[in-house]
Order: sequence, then C-alpha cells, then structure tokens
Amino acid sequence: MQVIRAMQASDLDEVVRIENLVFHSPWPQQAFMEAPYTYSWVICEDEVLQGYIIYHTVLDEGIILNFAIDPKFQHQGLGTRLLNETLKILIDSGIRTFFLDVRASNLIAQNLYKKFDFHPIGKRKNYYSEPIEDAIVMVKYIDEWYNKKL
Ligand SMILES: CC(C)(COP(=O)(O)OP(=O)(O)OC[C@H]1O[C@@H](n2cnc3c(N)ncnc32)[C@H](O)[C@@H]1OP(=O)(O)O)[C@@H](O)C(=O)NCCC(=O)NCCS
Repeated sequence: MQVIRAMQASDLDEVVRIENLVFHSPWPQQAFMEAPYTYSWVICEDEVLQGYIIYHTVLDEGIILNFAIDPKFQHQGLGTRLLNETLKILIDSGIRTFFLDVRASNLIAQNLYKKFDFHPIGKRKNYYSEPIEDAIVMVKYIDEWYNKKL
C-alpha cells in the first residue's frame, strides 16, 4: 500500500540516494539532518521509499525546499500525490502563501507547480550552479485559490 508519512532519520540513506540521482548539485546528507524548522514527508510503497518533499515554514508562509521522486517511479502521479497531500496538511495548519525556486530549464516541475496554481513572480539571476542557471520564483496564494474554487 502506498503511504505518505513524516520523514525519519532511518530514511536518510535512501533520500540521499535519490537526491544524488536527480539533482546536479545535490544536498549533502548533513543538509537533510540540519533542518530544525522543516516539515518533511516521504512517499513509500511496501517499505520502498519513492520520493520526498521538504518545506520550511515561517508564520503563515511555506517554502518548498526540496522535492523529488525516484526516477524509477516518475511520471506515475506520485509527485502530484505527494505535493497535493502535503500542501493540504500545511494549508490546514494555517499556511496561506507558498514559495519555491525552480531551475529555469526544469519545465517538468514548473508544469506540475502550475497545476497547483503556483505562478511565476520573479527570477534570481544565476542562482544555481553546476550548471549556472537562473531560478524562477513561484508563489501560490491560498485564499485566492480557495476563492476561485467557490
Ligand atoms: C518534478 C517531479 C517531482 C515530478 O514528479 P512525478 O511523480 O514525475 O510527477 P507526476 O507523475 O505526478 O506528474 C505531474 C505533472 O508533472 C508534469 N510532468 C511529469 N512528467 C512530465 C514530462 N515527462 N514532461 C512534461 N511534464 C511532465 C506534468 O504536468 C504532469 O502532469 P500530467 O501527468 O497531468 O501531465 C519529478 O519529475 C522529479 O523528481 N524531478 C527531478 C527533481 C526535481 O526537478 N524536483 C523539483 C525541483 S523544484
């Protein structure tokens, strides 16, 4: 059965393995351990860890810091499910605005975020390294989103 649950220390080896597979400049293991104000979840099926998402929150703002699905399980709706369920948890806890940075060339992730009503609001020039690339800053306003659905 597929479940989404809070990330645990015992998940880190697998999370770091996926991180190294999907990103050119991956977070080191230490970065996953030094996150006191983060909310982190994993998606698993029969104990197989398939992906993870990490948010930072400040008052009523949430920032997606890291998000990946193991390439073996991409394009099967897992990213959508993980994003959907974790956004709901944070919205229910009072988060009203979400932000994220995404590589300008990462159209797959941008397409996914647009489906969740994230809008581009700016650019950070040369934000990423290896390769150097701009970040697109995207935002999602919850009250606007709720009003649209009414
Ligand atoms: C971005 C990522 C998390 C999406 O996870 P996923 O499980 O593959 O996504 P889903 O299967 O739920 O697809 C969701 C949407 O993503 C987009 N998408 C997925 N695969 C795509 C592809 N090959 N081409 C274009 N868009 C694609 C589509 O909008 C898709 O919606 P649709 O299936 O209704 O068309 C995953 O591709 C990933 O881990 N990428 C590498 C790490 C990364 O870029 N993280 C985000 C950093 S900001």
